Amino acid sequence: MTNYTIGFAICGSFCTFGRVLDHLQTLCDAGFHIIPIMSFNAYSTDTRFGSAVSFAERLENMTGHSVICSLEQAEPIGPKKMLDLLIVAPCTGNTLAKLATGIADTPVTLAVKSQLRNDRPVLIGISTNDALGTAAANIGTLMSRKNYYFIPYKQDDPINKPKSCVADFSLLLPAATEAISGRQMQPLILQ
Ligand SMILES: Cc1cc2nc3c(=O)[nH]c(=O)nc-3n(C[C@H](O)[C@H](O)[C@H](O)COP(=O)(O)O)c2cc1C
Repeated sequence: MTNYTIGFAICGSFCTFGRVLDHLQTLCDAGFHIIPIMSFNAYSTDTRFGSAVSFAERLENMTGHSVICSLEQAEPIGPKKMLDLLIVAPCTGNTLAKLATGIADTPVTLAVKSQLRNDRPVLIGISTNDALGTAAANIGTLMSRKNYYFIPYKQDDPINKPKSCVADFSLLLPAATEAISGRQMQPLILQ
């Protein structure tokens, strides 16, 4: 699978950026060609977890590819059949809602729309504290749609954040390999 190209789209779950980028390295090490994509918010917001520029630079250094950070840059993904797989990780509650309702107004959501028009897979790695609340309906909607796969996820802090779920990003490589082959990695729900 090393000649496969994967789009790696990052949304504004800033506290997971460090972890996600560490695990993205496993895809790079496995020889996949990675094209990084960032939502407008992920690309432009400095937080206590780091500056937007530092994350974008790290992504570019890891992948050797400039970050897709505009609608114009994301649009060709479909017409040029650029990606064998598109991963959205971390995927926020906000982006889940947009994907579930067909809104494509960020580089990430437009990349997904563009990928799906070619009947190609999208792998979602959720990270949202309303996964078992408002976002539950959206996650369910996407789970029942063709070509959507999920990185296995679990409740990350049931006592203090009872509605929160986060993907196990350490499963990025096996979940991506399965999704490219048209399969959902199991078990989907982790303890
Ligand atoms: C420091 C910080 C951490 C955040 N963490 C999360 C998160 O883990 N999950 C989430 O769904 N939203 C989180 N948000 C809110 C999103 O960034 C916000 O909803 C934003 O509109 C998402 O835009 P995007 O989905 O286009 O990236 C966080 C915001 C900030 C400032």
